[in-house]
Amino acid sequence: MFVYHTESEWIDWVDALADHDYVIIDDFLPEDALTEINTYFLLQREKDEFSRAAIGALDQRQTNDDIRRDYIYWLNDKQDRCLSNTWGLLFESMQVLNRYCFLSLSDLEFHLAYYPTGGYYKRHLDQFQNRNNRLISMVIYLNENWQNGDGGELEIFQHNESILIEPIAGRCAMFRSDIVEHAVRQAFKPRKSLTGWLLHQPAGVAQLAL
Ligand code: OGA
Ligand code: NI
Repeated sequence: MFVYHTESEWIDWVDALADHDYVIIDDFLPEDALTEINTYFLLQREKDEFSRAAIGALDQRQTNDDIRRDYIYWLNDKQDRCLSNTWGLLFESMQVLNRYCFLSLSDLEFHLAYYPTGGYYKRHLDQFQNRNNRLISMVIYLNENWQNGDGGELEIFQHNESILIEPIAGRCAMFRSDIVEHAVRQAFKPRKSLTGWLLHQPAGVAQLAL
């Protein structure tokens, strides 16, 4: 029924997500998709297609060095068709969450993210004040040979504690965009991810509605 992971794996992950509002999944991104996306990442960097990430949506967008220092490249499933394995996995994730969590996800938006050495993103929520259609955040890490001490951990804040997650290749962090506060600790090496959101309204429609 599912192509990228088995039904029982998916059920374990969505159960964990439902219980804890987040789940960390190792080896989420298959090897061929990792190669595909890392090759594409390099190409877009060489073409200088990344731009400074901003915070806020619509008329509240701004760049702010104190809050985040990363560079992003927005993906589009029509334009970036060569990432077929990656899109397949993301669409499968959306299908699974609709089926087992009774969500009504209908679209997604993803970007490649590059944190240069010294990059970070301070504690925040992923939902915007003026645009709340992001339901689930997914961050898939692309860093082969990431070592203890390289920094760049995802930090999840919950119940007055924080959990640190190293950004190792193939790992996925999935969490509720509306309530899970998180941060990216300073990276001591350039750090790459595929980051995005599962949406309950098409991105374009939500923007027009405001
Ligand atoms: C984000 C974010 C986390 C990460 O882009 O909103 O919180 O680990 N990313 O890259
Ligand atoms: Ni975030």
